[in-house]
Amino acid sequence: MALKIVCLPGDGIGPEVTAAAVRVVEALPLEFELEEHVFGGAAIHATGEPLPQTTLEACVAADAVLLGAVGLPEFDGKPVRPEQGLIRLRGELDVYANLRPTQEADVDLLIVRELVGGLYFGASGRRSDGSAYDTCEYSPAQIERIVRRGFELARGRRRQLASVDKANVMETSRLWREVATGLAPEYPDVELRHVLADTAGLLLAQDPSQFDVIVTENTFGDLLSDVAAGATGGLGLAASASLGDDGPGIFEPVHGSAPDIAGRGIANPAAMLRSVALLLRHGAGEAELADELERVVGEALESTPTPDLGGSATTADFTDAVVRALAQPGARR
Ligand code: NAD
Ligand code: IPM
Ligand code: MN
Repeated sequence: MALKIVCLPGDGIGPEVTAAAVRVVEALPLEFELEEHVFGGAAIHATGEPLPQTTLEACVAADAVLLGAVGLPEFDGKPVRPEQGLIRLRGELDVYANLRPTQEADVDLLIVRELVGGLYFGASGRRSDGSAYDTCEYSPAQIERIVRRGFELARGRRRQLASVDKANVMETSRLWREVATGLAPEYPDVELRHVLADTAGLLLAQDPSQFDVIVTENTFGDLLSDVAAGATGGLGLAASASLGDDGPGIFEPVHGSAPDIAGRGIANPAAMLRSVALLLRHGAGEAELADELERVVGEALESTPTPDLGGSATTADFTDAVVRALAQPGARR
């Protein structure tokens, strides 16, 4: 059966990198159906809400969701924002495990960010008597399922798991640490260590190669994955997969809508194309095709760098290089 992919281009450079992804998906030896839906700021313009019901229903019915980016400066200070649609979509699909890999030079790191709990999802986001509240909240079950994911992923790699928290300050972090410590005996082949979140930022900025797998709370994972990207090749390279236990995953770059470069055709599509590779691996059972796409993107980064990497290639030039390489004899057809 054809793989059903729902595409949500979103805002800013989102549609630019999504167009690149569609060209690449079309160049792959893969049976698929692509459906595009409005999302984010584009959806607020079209319907008044960032995640319209038709978009949500299409995502629920899909095999995988491929997402560009959301967010536009014009919504700053407005009550309805594009980002709310993304948070809600993650919650509705219950994609609690956000995999953010970094593979550059001697760095081979995987950040496993909890995505549907913590500070983003607590009984929160309100104002009262002039004060504002965001509550960090976790149940033991929510922590257990993400930390288990971290242990299992570490098992398939270098077997080192760093659980990142602020157990010196936060009660949710103390629970997180208790749960992680309690699970460790079930994974005797994996070495667990606890690292405080501020120290984790320092260590990542200094030398990201010292980590194998990091598992952490939603907000910490958001911040640390940008630090990891900054310490390696930048946001133009960083891909992600958001996975639940079943149902469709969301595959999206770590970067945002980049309003500072949007509309100029110079966004680096590598992060998005690597997210397509994650879709192939985790959302379609096409591991070999994923490896091939990652290899070809790696080559294009060398031969056809975009301005964020010091080159002068456009998004289209980079995509051309990838599509051409996929069509070469020797590439899997
Ligand atoms: P950003 O990630 O959009 O951009 C940060 C910097 O990185 C900018 O200088 C930008 O030009 C650069 N950059 C990002 N992606 C790039 C690419 N592919 N190629 C070349 N350069 C790239 O972060 P921001 O500017 O702080 O946020 C802009 C908007 O994006 C905000 O509304 C924010 O909420 C939203 N956002 C959305 C997502 C998402 O949809 N998943 C992620 C992060 C931020
Ligand atoms: C990310 C983004 C999102 C987040 C925003 C846009 C809601 O920064 O995916 O990293 O904070 O999770
Ligand atoms: Mn982020």
